[in-house]
Amino acid sequence: MSNRTFAIIKPDAVRKNVIGEIIATITKAGFKVLAFQKMKLTPEQAGAFYEVHKERPFYGELVNFMCSGPIVPIALEKENAVADFRALIGATDPAEAAEGTIRKMFASSKGENAIHGSDSDENAKNEIAFFFTESSIISSK
Ligand code: CMP
Repeated sequence: MSNRTFAIIKPDAVRKNVIGEIIATITKAGFKVLAFQKMKLTPEQAGAFYEVHKERPFYGELVNFMCSGPIVPIALEKENAVADFRALIGATDPAEAAEGTIRKMFASSKGENAIHGSDSDENAKNEIAFFFTESSIISSK
């Protein structure tokens, strides 16, 4: 059964002007784009989105980075979407990411790692709802 995941093209990748290459990599891997936009997060929004990492030492750096420039949130659909997308983006640290993964191709460091991918179906649902209304989500069928 087809299900959903959620991605963000992060500010480092937008600055590198690789939005198109990243979306092409995602759609070539079989994902359908349900909704996307280019926008800039406020510190309050970035802080709320990464609330789960609040106690981590890198939280402040992460929030600063995520509002340092425009991002592209994307709602995606595919069979086994969450696991397949995690495989496509690769390890958090690009130095450990496999060949052909988005982070291997486009990320600079563990912090500036080009792309976000949801880690569970429940987080995918919540993260999509953080950025998109259900009525803005359009199936390609
Ligand atoms: P992501 O998995 O999208 O969401 C949590 C983010 O925290 C992760 O990507 C990294 O960008 C960031 N992160 C994880 N570990 C570190 C770290 N050691 N230093 C800075 N940022 C980190």
